[in-house]
Amino acid sequence: MAPYDTIKVDELDDRVVVTLHRPQSRNAIDAAMIRELHDVCGGLEEHPRLLLLTGAGGVFAAGADIAELRARGREQALRGINSRLFDRIARLPLPSVAAVDGYALGGGAELAYACDIRLASPAATFGNPEPGLGILAAAGATWRLRELVGASVAKQILLAGRRLDAEAACRLGLVAEVVPADDLLARAHALLDRMARSGALALRLTKLVTDAPGGHPVTDDLAQAILFESEEKRDRMDAFLAGERR
Ligand code: COA
Repeated sequence: MAPYDTIKVDELDDRVVVTLHRPQSRNAIDAAMIRELHDVCGGLEEHPRLLLLTGAGGVFAAGADIAELRARGREQALRGINSRLFDRIARLPLPSVAAVDGYALGGGAELAYACDIRLASPAATFGNPEPGLGILAAAGATWRLRELVGASVAKQILLAGRRLDAEAACRLGLVAEVVPADDLLARAHALLDRMARSGALALRLTKLVTDAPGGHPVTDDLAQAILFESEEKRDRMDAFLAGERR
């Protein structure tokens, strides 16, 4: 993957670690960061691996870049500049984990919502202050946040400016666990290690079916039919039956 200006990327065999890095703007998501994250997605689609997404400097991301938002009009909104990237991240073949330290606001929160699992430091704060800027949280919060925490809490955040601290986010199920900031990345890697021990195709199809709109037993059966024919399934079951535990 190319050298980047707004993110740091560490490529490992089974995962890619992306750190949002625009410290002067609290990691606000600008057009360059969008382009660079699309490039990372392209690499992950071509060569599926797990994704760990985090922010530098004690902040996840303070939102979309407000100076750029200020200049955008109807045409840019219809291009779904942020929402298409976040949908692409949500649809990555293998699971993603967001490790959130500090602010995840506006588009930054929506980016975290697009990941499959979130871990937080005690300083994490989630919020969608977009109406205060005269706009809508249009990159997934209106529906993805509702799916994650339910309509009542989503409306408190979206309409009444409620910010969730780490403890509330954990209680409401938005984050899986609150971990001291110094341990956050290690814990996220441990979670990814756990996932990496599963069959990659099984993880991929489980994610695909879990995210399939509406759900349908036929989809489950078709995905299972593919997995039942896989060499990996036979190997893993043989290993279990031979007494091996992973
Ligand atoms: N877009 C562009 N620039 C941003 C930004 C954003 N979303 N969030 C922060 N910045 C910039 C500030 O303008 C400031 O720039 P400056 O040093 O040139 O003045 C710099 O980042 C530091 O921000 P500051 O507000 O001084 O830091 P803080 O630690 O006191 O507060 C926040 C952090 C996140 C609470 C605060 O920056 C904030 O409220 N940001 C906007 C959040 C928001 O409304 N997001 C929704 C956008 S969709």
